Amino acid sequence: MNVLSVVSEVYPLIKTGGLADVAGALPAALAEYGIHSLTVIPGYRKVMAATPDRTEIAVLADVLGFEARIFLCKASGLDLLIVDVPALFDREGGPYQDASGAPFEDNWLRFAVFSLAGARIATGEIAGIEPQLLHVHDWQTALAPVYLRYRLGSALPTVLTLHNIAFQGQYAFAIASELGLPASAFTIDGLEYYGDVGYLKGGIMTADAITTVSPTYAREILARPLGMGLEGVLQKRRNDLYGIVNGIDLDIWSPEQDALLPAPYGLDSLDRRAQNRAALLDRVGLPDLGGPLFAVLTRLAWQKGSDLIEPVADEIFAAGGQIIICGEGDASIEKKLIALAGRHPDKVAIHVGYNETMAHLIMGGTDVLLQPSRFEPCGLTQLYAMRYGAIPLAARTGGLSETIIDANDAALARDVATGFQFYPVNAESLRHAIFMVSEFFRDQQTWQRLQRQAMTADFSWSRSAAQYCQLFEALHDHHLRASKIA
Ligand code: ADP
Ligand code: GLC
Repeated sequence: MNVLSVVSEVYPLIKTGGLADVAGALPAALAEYGIHSLTVIPGYRKVMAATPDRTEIAVLADVLGFEARIFLCKASGLDLLIVDVPALFDREGGPYQDASGAPFEDNWLRFAVFSLAGARIATGEIAGIEPQLLHVHDWQTALAPVYLRYRLGSALPTVLTLHNIAFQGQYAFAIASELGLPASAFTIDGLEYYGDVGYLKGGIMTADAITTVSPTYAREILARPLGMGLEGVLQKRRNDLYGIVNGIDLDIWSPEQDALLPAPYGLDSLDRRAQNRAALLDRVGLPDLGGPLFAVLTRLAWQKGSDLIEPVADEIFAAGGQIIICGEGDASIEKKLIALAGRHPDKVAIHVGYNETMAHLIMGGTDVLLQPSRFEPCGLTQLYAMRYGAIPLAARTGGLSETIIDANDAALARDVATGFQFYPVNAESLRHAIFMVSEFFRDQQTWQRLQRQAMTADFSWSRSAAQYCQLFEALHDHHLRASKIA
């Protein structure tokens, strides 16, 4: 079976978060089940620079007035199609924001054009490319199934994966006439969303199936507050909503063979973590005070509870602990954390920015990974952490609640605990959890048991890929039967 995956970021070419990791890893996992994926991404400046060996295979004329050159290439084992529209994608900055961090004002147009190009490729406009299913991700590509149904008249099966519904692609109704869609697409069963145009809402109403990245998040978004306005729409589609938890790419995230670690290690050489811890402290310029090391590796955002770190810092210091933060995002949170590090130069270090090497060093060297997320569709960093024997201390929400086994008495007695959870997500309960974790840390024997249990938990993609495969095949079979009847 051939699947066309249309997505706005993919590791290692372009990444702002877990979406890229998933888009980069799922094709290889699906290949094990006989599914071939072709991944379609925008020709951002960074992507064009990283793919000198690409070949032009087609030109799509008049994609909402733009000409899109389509390139085929292979990169890091992925089969890629690049949609090159320089006027929209050849820019400084990230995929969605300019260099100063402000969202591009024409994102509505950039991702409408990209989605329409993806939909046209899905219907077989380019000779030799005939997918049996279209897979799209988040608001950026949610319009593709809408274009398929309302503009291209295609019944090709479609799956929309929700990685994060906080971002919805909601725009003033004034853009409706620019999208190249008939009036019938803008009703309550389509794109109309509280009087605006909602890309994600349109995708949810139109796709044959909707998946999200953990069963818990799939339940949470059916109601307030985590439905974030979409709960009613999702309720309508609840029979077609599936939760499939993300896996991790073990070729990239394995402490035994991680070239970015000064001292790779495994279950039998956990003591080598000490060298990584020393290297990490050294890298950020902190002395080793001997207590538990708490690390934060994330987008600094309200979603991630990054504003809760400063209020709980004293509890960490009281336990003899230190804090290392690596992240970027919300300017006011950044400012507060920089000030915190300034006040406690031997206890707190912050690296503002995105840094792949630091990410690996943190996993290989920190004792605790702190994740006070207010919501978390799946979360990947806790999975990387556990694989590396860094113990997650995380909020009990979304994917965090089902991928971490809390070290409560029952789990400890059965030797299955892999981390710590706390709830509700506020400074007070986080302080309490930090106290508990620090007490555990004093007992290094129990701590190492936790580490081993975390490291041996199965976070590979295979089970989840099997679930995607089952869903894709069911939709494909249904489509074949329906077209025979017609
Ligand atoms: P989200 O997609 O919501 O940001 P995830 O946990 O799913 O959260 O994925 C985050 C991804 O981004 C992980 O691969 C993580 O390692 C990476 N990451 C986050 N912050 C940084 C950073 N400052 N430097 C390097 N990698 C980061
Ligand atoms: C989103 C979510 C995160 C999830 C990732 C990949 O960015 O915030 O929880 O792990 O997508 O699915």
